Amino acid sequence: MKVLVVGPGGREHAIVRALLADPYVEEVHAAPGNAGIAAVVPVHPIDASDPAAVTALARRLEADLVVVGPEAPLAAGVADALDAAGIPVFGPSKEAARLEASKSFAKQVMAAAGVPTAMAHVAANRAEAEEGLDMFGAPYVVKDDGLAAGKGVVVTGDRDEALAHAQACFDAGGTVVIEEFLDGPEVSLFVLSDGRHAVPLAPAQDFKRIFDGDAGPNTGGMGAYSPLEWVPENLVEDVMARVAQPTIDEMAARGIPFTGVLYCGLALTSRGLRVIEFNARFGDPETQAVLARLKTPLGGLLLAAAKGSLDAGEQLRWDPRTAVAVVVAAGNYPDAPRTGDPILGLPEAELLEGVHVLHAGTREQEGEVVSAGGRVLAVVGLGDGLAEARSRAYAGVEQIGLDGSQHRTDIALRAERGEITVPGTSAASGTDGANA
Ligand code: AMP
Ligand code: GLY
Repeated sequence: MKVLVVGPGGREHAIVRALLADPYVEEVHAAPGNAGIAAVVPVHPIDASDPAAVTALARRLEADLVVVGPEAPLAAGVADALDAAGIPVFGPSKEAARLEASKSFAKQVMAAAGVPTAMAHVAANRAEAEEGLDMFGAPYVVKDDGLAAGKGVVVTGDRDEALAHAQACFDAGGTVVIEEFLDGPEVSLFVLSDGRHAVPLAPAQDFKRIFDGDAGPNTGGMGAYSPLEWVPENLVEDVMARVAQPTIDEMAARGIPFTGVLYCGLALTSRGLRVIEFNARFGDPETQAVLARLKTPLGGLLLAAAKGSLDAGEQLRWDPRTAVAVVVAAGNYPDAPRTGDPILGLPEAELLEGVHVLHAGTREQEGEVVSAGGRVLAVVGLGDGLAEARSRAYAGVEQIGLDGSQHRTDIALRAERGEITVPGTSAASGTDGANA
């Protein structure tokens, strides 16, 4: 089969890499890709969010499957256009992608499906925002009700800061969702769906803040690891039964079946399992860690999801090793990242045992790989257990030379030290099931 992967980032590089390892995939193309993707497959310089351009390319390539990576093309209707052209596509329709693109829509679906999530209050002006803040108290959680690349959320003990964020969203013509604060560790679980059936991947954990110790502003994600040894044994079954399947059923009942990956962003709180957010796509950089371990051929799974023939009973096969992905970001990320700097040490990093490098914001310039975005690379280490996987990933990071770059030094460190605890009894068995 011939597969076209749409998107420019590290997630797409991880998908391309997994597809190249699939014996049933004969050819992989990417659009627009990045320097790392271009080194392994043909790339096509089109606008990934232009439905007509993506469809024309897929037709010309005679692609058997198109995999859409990022949220923007989904929200722009790329999957709808491919579907209308009769081209199998892994990724939800524009309507179904609202599970990610609109936080208030996601809350409605969760409420209707009985999915446990943070209590929430939608505010369109300052008075309503103040009402919401007082309703739940500190710490305050204020979310831009639109797509904000993971950066539209402010969690703060400072009421003025919370109000200022809400005001900035109103000034931009938007609304906000104000939520109760969820305590407890976060888990990302990716669930493949063909619109009716669902198959979970292995859980991962992401690190959203820019600095060590979860300090500083939120980013798209600074690192990830998988599997998670500290989660309750029944977590995946619990999420499938209480979150993923009810959501997929609710979407189908509304006539907007969800095809693609339902990214369940979860908190294991003292009051039980709660959904923090849904995304309509694979997470970045969790995918870089998760797919590094997947042994079941990826192409067949994604094609089955696209064609409505996913086997819900399928047990995926996994590499028993642990994967840790550390993001190397540009200087001044997440504000206004500096770009255009040469990236050194890529071949040296790749030579290390159990290490591979996935490109995100990179491009080729006069035969040289240079930085072209906020998150530049993810260095992935695979090893027997967290200690070895971490030391391999960081040995790879050490090889990379990029002026002004930043990375966290504590990706998966608390897990390695056994410091992560799930509050309360068993977070996954909480049954109070609060709903918005
Ligand atoms: P989101 O864009 O909804 O994923 O939010 C980004 C990050 O903000 C999440 O990964 C959490 O770390 C944090 N966050 C979001 N909602 C809450 C909440 N209700 N309570 C605590 N932290 C939250
Ligand atoms: N890593 C978070 C996300 O992909 O949204």
